[in-house]
Amino acid sequence: MVIGSGVELSYDGTQIFEILRVKLMSKSKNSSPTAINLGIDEKDRKAIAEGLSRLLADTYTLYLKTHYFHWNVTGPMFQTLHLMFETQYTELALAVDLIAERIRALGFPAPGSYSAYSKLSSIPETTEVPKAEEMISLLIEGQEAVVRTARSIFPQSDKVSDEPTSDLLTQRMQVHEKTAWMLRSLLE
Ligand SMILES: [Fe+2]
Repeated sequence: MVIGSGVELSYDGTQIFEILRVKLMSKSKNSSPTAINLGIDEKDRKAIAEGLSRLLADTYTLYLKTHYFHWNVTGPMFQTLHLMFETQYTELALAVDLIAERIRALGFPAPGSYSAYSKLSSIPETTEVPKAEEMISLLIEGQEAVVRTARSIFPQSDKVSDEPTSDLLTQRMQVHEKTAWMLRSLLE
């Protein structure tokens, strides 16, 4: 192990752990180890986290709607739609985790209740069981609603060079725009 001046010394695992512990403790006297300092003001981080919370609510609502349609779809397109919806809700289930964890990395709690999502989401719930074609139309509307929500956050993330958020938004928009196109193609 090389320490500071380049003098090479041998330490066992316990000694290295102790050195790191002492270093961390001495640092914590000068600055709070839990303070977030990403180079983005708290006000801007909060605005982005609020936008991402709306994106999370939209994504979760669309996830639930897509899973619901997977269970309840009927008719001659059953097999195609049942499997297509499964692919879509599986992708959405993974996406909510990425969005929620970006909110956490910005220093804010991620919403995770139906009451919070119903307030934040721009996608209305579907409570009846629509016909297969109506399900496709409702999912196109939902996919495009998520795209619009994601796009609305861009000015805030771009303003403060929050590239991780902008990258996440770009990825989400690509997925939702492509899925909307695939769904729409079924109706043409
Ligand atoms: Fe299933």
